[in-house]
Amino acid sequence: QKTWQDLIALADLETGDATPVTLGRRDLAVFDTVDGIFVSLARCTHGAANLCDGYFDGKYIECPLHQGLFDARTGQPRAAPARIPLRMIKARVVDSRVQVFL
Ligand code: FES
Repeated sequence: QKTWQDLIALADLETGDATPVTLGRRDLAVFDTVDGIFVSLARCTHGAANLCDGYFDGKYIECPLHQGLFDARTGQPRAAPARIPLRMIKARVVDSRVQVFL
């Protein structure tokens, strides 16, 4: 049964960047994008990299390992070798805190 779970305060996010947050056994990436907050599983779908270690420009996250590119708002791959979309986690902001539906 999924529920809304508290994740992190907006004030604790790395502004305009990707912030790693662990919830239970899941490693998540919280993206402070130009279109708001988006959350995905942090692991790259191509290999064993944490996307939070990559370069983020407010829209796209570049994997630190092979420079695969994903749209952080949709999870869609945008440049090789990224081929599989990121698993996005439903997120919302309530009272200046990020919540995820997990
Ligand atoms: Fe991310 Fe290869 S591990 S592009």
